[in-house]
Amino acid sequence: MPTVHIGAKSGDIAPTVLMPGDPYRARWAAETFLDNPTCINEVRGMLGFTGTWRGNPVTIHGSGMGMASFSIYANELIRDYGAKTLIRIGSAGAMQPQVKIRDVVLAMSATTLTSPSRGIFRDLNFAPCADYDLLVAAHAAAKTKGIPTHVGGIYSSDVFYDERPDLNEIMTRHGILCVEMEAAELYNLCHRHGVRGLAVLTISDHLQTKEALPSEDRERSFGDMVEIALHAAFP
Ligand code: ADE
Repeated sequence: MPTVHIGAKSGDIAPTVLMPGDPYRARWAAETFLDNPTCINEVRGMLGFTGTWRGNPVTIHGSGMGMASFSIYANELIRDYGAKTLIRIGSAGAMQPQVKIRDVVLAMSATTLTSPSRGIFRDLNFAPCADYDLLVAAHAAAKTKGIPTHVGGIYSSDVFYDERPDLNEIMTRHGILCVEMEAAELYNLCHRHGVRGLAVLTISDHLQTKEALPSEDRERSFGDMVEIALHAAFP
């Protein structure tokens, strides 16, 4: 302590960690929702903040984009800093007609082609899934806020560009709600280390209609996700 990628001291990280991909979003969320937020990491510009929400200690820490980056921060948060509840808050691309821009998706499970855990699972098709209590509490919070919310399987992709078109079609045909790039490895790590994980996602673009969330709406949608995640962690 500190670790290779996190400069926080022992005790600086709360047992509950919210993880947006973007470090500036971590700062905005901490300054907007937490009391007494303190920056506890800035190694490589990957910002992390710890404060309290309704008296409960909370850390909000950036993860970077993609499962490889996410895995580094989540591993260190769990193994070295003792994080017990990790909630990804991020955006996703819709893969079903009933899933609309701005809707929230709670990822019950996450399908992958490959992930950083491939080396461990090899030919095993492990089924990474959310923590049930977090999922139920997040669903209740989203309903209370009146946000259209979908619960189901999502796809965690390793690539943003040059995705195989046939793969997206297979996902859609099998009812996968949306695509993002981190949740499956969050769930893999949570299963491995016996901690709780959930991905709360807002639809920022639609793969079929090609619609995209206007930039002026992004902050409000992100704020809704932060509140859902906080209510899920502390119902
Ligand atoms: N995150 C937001 N939109 C996405 C998309 N279309 N593909 C992968 N990740 C995303």
